[in-house]
Amino acid sequence: MKPVPYAQPMIGDEEKSRVMAVLDSGMIAMGPQTAEFERKFAAYIGTDYAVATNNGTSALHVALLAAGIGPGDKVITTPFTFIASSNSILYCGATPVFADVDPRTFNIDPASVQRILDRDDDIKAIMVVHLYGLSCEMDSIMEMAESRGLLVIEDCAQAHGAQYRGRAVGSFGDVGIFSFYPTKNMTTGEGGMVVTSRKDIADKARKLINHGRCDRYLHDSLGFNYRMTDIAAAIGLCQLAKLDGFNARRRENAAVLNKLLSDLSPVILPDEPEHCLHVYHQYTIRAQRRDDLKAYLDAAGVQTSIVYPIPNTRQPLYMSNGLGQAETPVAEMLGTEVISLPIHPGLSHEDLVRISDSLHAFYSS
Ligand SMILES: Cc1ncc(COP(=O)(O)O)c(C=O)c1O
Repeated sequence: MKPVPYAQPMIGDEEKSRVMAVLDSGMIAMGPQTAEFERKFAAYIGTDYAVATNNGTSALHVALLAAGIGPGDKVITTPFTFIASSNSILYCGATPVFADVDPRTFNIDPASVQRILDRDDDIKAIMVVHLYGLSCEMDSIMEMAESRGLLVIEDCAQAHGAQYRGRAVGSFGDVGIFSFYPTKNMTTGEGGMVVTSRKDIADKARKLINHGRCDRYLHDSLGFNYRMTDIAAAIGLCQLAKLDGFNARRRENAAVLNKLLSDLSPVILPDEPEHCLHVYHQYTIRAQRRDDLKAYLDAAGVQTSIVYPIPNTRQPLYMSNGLGQAETPVAEMLGTEVISLPIHPGLSHEDLVRISDSLHAFYSS
């Protein structure tokens, strides 16, 4: 029997013909497709501006720089995320200050952020990561930031279309970013997007992604080549039109798994607070005997992933640069318990039953 794939980009005929049209047009680098993608993405998130980039990591880098993060600045963030989140702070010469996470939502714990703010009055920004497709507690985060004049950066790389109190993530902070890597809820192959309603940040980001260019062959600041291609943007436009449908399928799959797995006491199912709309980039459970379960599911043809086994505080890079000292026991515990099951829109009902049956078989053995 074929394995149940862990992730699967959903590319259809629309994407293929739009890419062919771009190839035939002769304009394949950044051009009209990218401009249209930026316009439509900003409208979808509800920000005034969007700037497309060649991946989510470059989007994070320019978002931080454009917001004014620089050498010596301290940015509170979560260690329970992909390494790009905190590395982008290092790229700016700034320092990540790690807060712990909530064991139910896996997201940054506002109480832990507050404890850091109470002992350190030298913090410049908070970077939240809406992990697995679930929004962080934005009321608490925005309140803490506003009362102290801190910047808020939203890493929405995993949360396209996720909502907090009916509003899309990416529209709360000073600036947000998205990734369009192939495993994400929508893809452009590789790609990213900076979103903001601050014109100064949008203008700076647009220059930073294009070698600090202010006019043709005129450069007044140091920038990069982080541009998106029109080939990628053509895919992105088709995927954006399908995003709500993809997310609905992910939510339906999650509801089926929640039901099928509800009697399994050795696992804790994902949490969806009632004021959040979860888009299930990952369907991540906490499981007893996690490593044995993963091996069993692998053998049973159910692909899974451990996202993330090691919090950034315990990565060799952060242990050696002195930033891994932070006490984040919940993030460390989660690293030993989490396992993400297939949840993508390409799954059939039979796939979901097979996933559930395999978990039941493991825990009854
Ligand atoms: C939370 C988070 N931030 C940033 C990134 C970086 O995005 P990209 O892989 O497009 O560079 C990712 C990608 O996996 C991510 O999951």
